[in-house]
Amino acid sequence: MSDLSLPFDTRYLPVKKFHHEYRRSIEQPEEFWAEQARQLDWFRPWDKVLEWDPPFAHWFAGGLLNASHICVDRHIKHWRRSKVAIYWEGEPGDTKVLSYSTLYNEVNRFAAMLRNRGIGKGDRVALYLPMLPELPIIMLACARIGAPHTVIFSGFSAQALADRVNDVGAKLLVTADGGYRRGKTIPLKTVVDEALTMCPTVESTIVVRRANIPVSMKPSRDFWLDDLLEQEAPYIAPEPVESNHPLYILYTSGTTGKPKGIVHSTGGYMVHNYCTYKWAFDIREESVYWCSADVGWVTGHSSIVYAPLAHGAAIVLYEGAPDYPNVDRWWHIIDKYGVTIFYTSPTAIRMFMGYGEKWLAKHDLSSLELLGSVGEPINPEAWVWFYRHVGGERCPIVDTWWQTETGGIMISPAPGIECVPLKPGSATLPLPGVDADVVDESGNPVPPETRGLLVIKKPWPGMLLGIHGNPERYQQAYWSRFPGIYYTGDYAVKDRDGYFWMLGRADEVLKIAGHRIGTAELEDAAISHAEVAEAAVVGKSDPVKGESIVIFVRIKEGSSPTQDLKQAIIKHMRQVVGPIATPDAVYFVTRLPKTRSGKIVRRVLKAVAENTPIGDVSTLEDEAVVEEIIKIYQELKQVQEVK
Ligand code: PRX
Repeated sequence: MSDLSLPFDTRYLPVKKFHHEYRRSIEQPEEFWAEQARQLDWFRPWDKVLEWDPPFAHWFAGGLLNASHICVDRHIKHWRRSKVAIYWEGEPGDTKVLSYSTLYNEVNRFAAMLRNRGIGKGDRVALYLPMLPELPIIMLACARIGAPHTVIFSGFSAQALADRVNDVGAKLLVTADGGYRRGKTIPLKTVVDEALTMCPTVESTIVVRRANIPVSMKPSRDFWLDDLLEQEAPYIAPEPVESNHPLYILYTSGTTGKPKGIVHSTGGYMVHNYCTYKWAFDIREESVYWCSADVGWVTGHSSIVYAPLAHGAAIVLYEGAPDYPNVDRWWHIIDKYGVTIFYTSPTAIRMFMGYGEKWLAKHDLSSLELLGSVGEPINPEAWVWFYRHVGGERCPIVDTWWQTETGGIMISPAPGIECVPLKPGSATLPLPGVDADVVDESGNPVPPETRGLLVIKKPWPGMLLGIHGNPERYQQAYWSRFPGIYYTGDYAVKDRDGYFWMLGRADEVLKIAGHRIGTAELEDAAISHAEVAEAAVVGKSDPVKGESIVIFVRIKEGSSPTQDLKQAIIKHMRQVVGPIATPDAVYFVTRLPKTRSGKIVRRVLKAVAENTPIGDVSTLEDEAVVEEIIKIYQELKQVQEVK
């Protein structure tokens, strides 16, 4: 794929150690995972490594542990108590540095505060916060008392927030008065006020003071955090929870309009993340680890909070926009904190590529040892740019494939064991314990260089426990297509060396700047506009964001297809879902291409959006409508041309 000669490229070296570990993990999974799990602190060892009642897994059954104990307590009994746990930088430039002993005190103080608010084991706590130090602290405080947290990305609208809070049945919601983004303050508490008119389960709200903007506080429901925290940190003993006790529930998009609450365990999740961060990132206690994602996504859960802190590393937490006040803000942060491992998304890399190398030249990035990419396929050009200009041709890039559902990294180079030869654009090979394959529609493995569906053939410790409140959907979405095998929803191809190349989603889920959003969610949002009768969304390739949203709208009789209406629909979608739901193009159409059963033929719309030929539809769909579809395609192309 690339003619680069990379200094760390071990193409001609036998990567014996890696292959040996991998083989062992597949041949003797229980022995292998027990060995890994022993590296964590358990209050009681497990009785059985895995109870597998497909599709429900119980890893380390009977074992008792606590994630906050693993991430915090065990470091304060060690020299690490005085080392940095969190370097936090606010967008305006204010900073905070927390040592592990400070983090420990804070987690205890917050846990006491949660208990005082009546939160106990099993109660769900929703967090709608900017990237503040309070966010990981509250997550760990929840974990400490056995209360599963649900972090909701602070870019979501009131409606999206309310939907998630209601689905999870949260008793308490933690937010901030506001947060900073591109120099402006975002009024989070106002969004919360609107959401809470729709959330009957929430008994109280705790508000972190951040932006110092006026907010309304409802007596006996809303409390300022400062007023609730005691001065002296009490000791709150970490609650020993059974391995399958839910650590958190995180919402993600699927193929229906309703987001899925992905439930993660404590034991399996912690073991998976502890190991894979060692393997993929070679993370150590002396690492300064920066994952640029928001904690509102799974990457933030595993890569900002649970995995690096379990290793006693220092994390960097940055509040604001990547290119504010200047486009070198990120390079400045790497230089300032001596970041050693930097983990980001292809969209961010492509955006910085566009700004040019001159912004990097002003900063010393020589502390970097390893780079990571996640969330969407990375094109070889972006990979090479990242390698050359950010990594100074010194740092391996780990392209890590995983999902909210997998809980942790699944396919990635493993320099922490032994780095396999890298190929720009490939996530390389599955990590130990991960039995991945590429199959055809019938579930048979496809030959090398053939596109197919990515599946995982054996349970793994970080796997989701299920979908909150919906075991049928869990079974149906992941385990029904190929019984007993996990369906990822991704296309992939394996090359002749067995390397995996990810080719994007095979289902109706888009990846906009690495953020996952279902076409159905976007269509529901558009249809809720008073003048929209019908809508269909497709993704269009975008040189920076990977994909952008294109929406085809049929408006109601009596409405006029004006530019103002286009803008109003865009605004409405942003309001219903949040800014990530902003379409890049809106086409007004008089009809949509559909099969006889009424299913929208998205590939026709995609061809229109991408301005590519329609291809052969005769074999695919409902024959009776083929002609009709071609006619509609031609009509739509005209709409596009006059746009
Ligand atoms: O399509 C794959 C893509 O992101 C999807 C999962 O999205 P989400 O649950 O939001 O989690 C993202 C971060 C873990 C996958 O189904 N994806 C993730 N990583 C990669 C990727 N596509 C290509 N290469 C990757 N490294």
